[in-house]
Amino acid sequence: MSESSKLPVTLIDGRTRVVVILAYPTHHVRTPAFFNARAAALGLNAVLVPWQVSPEQLPEALEGLRQVENLAGVIVTVPHKQRMAQLCDALEGIAADLEVCNVARRTADGRFVGRMYDGVGFVAGLCGQGIDPAGKRVLLLGAGGAATAVAAALLDAGARQLTIVNRTRDKADVLVAQLKVSRPDAAVTSAESTAGYWDLIVNGTSLGLKPDDPLPMDPATLDPHSIVAEVIMQPAETPLLLAAKARGSRIHRGEHMVTAQIDLLLDYLLGNLAGQEHTSR
Ligand code: ATR
Repeated sequence: MSESSKLPVTLIDGRTRVVVILAYPTHHVRTPAFFNARAAALGLNAVLVPWQVSPEQLPEALEGLRQVENLAGVIVTVPHKQRMAQLCDALEGIAADLEVCNVARRTADGRFVGRMYDGVGFVAGLCGQGIDPAGKRVLLLGAGGAATAVAAALLDAGARQLTIVNRTRDKADVLVAQLKVSRPDAAVTSAESTAGYWDLIVNGTSLGLKPDDPLPMDPATLDPHSIVAEVIMQPAETPLLLAAKARGSRIHRGEHMVTAQIDLLLDYLLGNLAGQEHTSR
């Protein structure tokens, strides 16, 4: 029996509110399973479906989605989080500060208002597993959409030192400068190499999604006392996590970042969960 066939079923009817998750490709996307199970458990008449849209077609796809009146909004993932922020009509909260978003609500007049929950989701997921970033020396790999939000949330959660290493060093430097605008005293820096001792290492790159991806860092340099965390949720244990586990490190799977933000996404897209009028089916 597949994972999804064990989950509560959403009965789609003419009143169903639709959310699409935009990704390219979509095969690694697991958010629909969590989102739809939670919506069904809450009695919400809503469904999340994957849409495979290339970066080139994203603006056009979004123009079409503006016209869809029963569309509650879109969730966006690799590689669209930064481009989507540019395409939104408005951004709220940290999405506006960092120009990155992973969700956009469609207003009645067809505008998209973006927010970014990956950072708060990541930190909530960590804390939910008993890993408090406060006081920790953290190495963050990557400076793309997800990494940007994770960096801000780790600093806001009290990380003692955050070091960002990215293939394209300039992007790490830009991210550090961006983070310091609203956090001038933050202990955040970019670096060329991953050398050093880290309480927590976070893979915020997309490396690990594809079977032939190189590792985002050399596992031989891992200290077994470092906790190694992922933002990638498919595969559940990436080659980096497997290598870290083999060296005796505690690992933290990427799925926690998403499961910890499902209620935030539902609440933002479908209205106040507590006050939601549940639809009988
Ligand atoms: P997301 O929205 O999931 O964060 P993204 O914005 O496309 O996706 O960011 C992908 C991240 O993975 C970036 O940090 C990227 O590094 P660059 O800024 O240098 O592009 C990193 N990444 C992707 N492919 C990589 C590779 N082959 N080697 C090293 N880093 C890679």
